[in-house]
Amino acid sequence: MAATFVGIAGQASNPLERDPMETLTPANQVSHFKYHVFFCLNQRENGDDCCAQRGAEAAFNYMKSQVKKHGLAGEGQVRINRAGCLDRCQMGPVMVVYPQAVWYTFVDETDLDEIISSHLQHGNIVERLVV
Ligand code: FES
Repeated sequence: MAATFVGIAGQASNPLERDPMETLTPANQVSHFKYHVFFCLNQRENGDDCCAQRGAEAAFNYMKSQVKKHGLAGEGQVRINRAGCLDRCQMGPVMVVYPQAVWYTFVDETDLDEIISSHLQHGNIVERLVV
């Protein structure tokens, strides 16, 4: 028998019981963060090309600290998370920003600062860094 989880509102929250064609509306959409950012930090042990070899860990740490510094971190705001390989290795280092599913690459802290100020603070996609 499949487990059923009951959310705080007392409604069944087992994702398997949801209608996959259900239209998400502001009323039923679950969005804990305004922007959820996933950084690929994958390290390939065999030495093959990966985001970790291109400075992803330092970029992740910088972005996380800057988001905190600007008071953007937390519920209803911005969350920066680690991720494994996102399968766009040739474009790396990469991150993806949800809910828009915008993929970025970056080369330095200036690029990360621009993503923070333009996208995360003002909702404007940084087209020059989109991959
Ligand atoms: S190693 Fe980063 S996307 Fe695959």
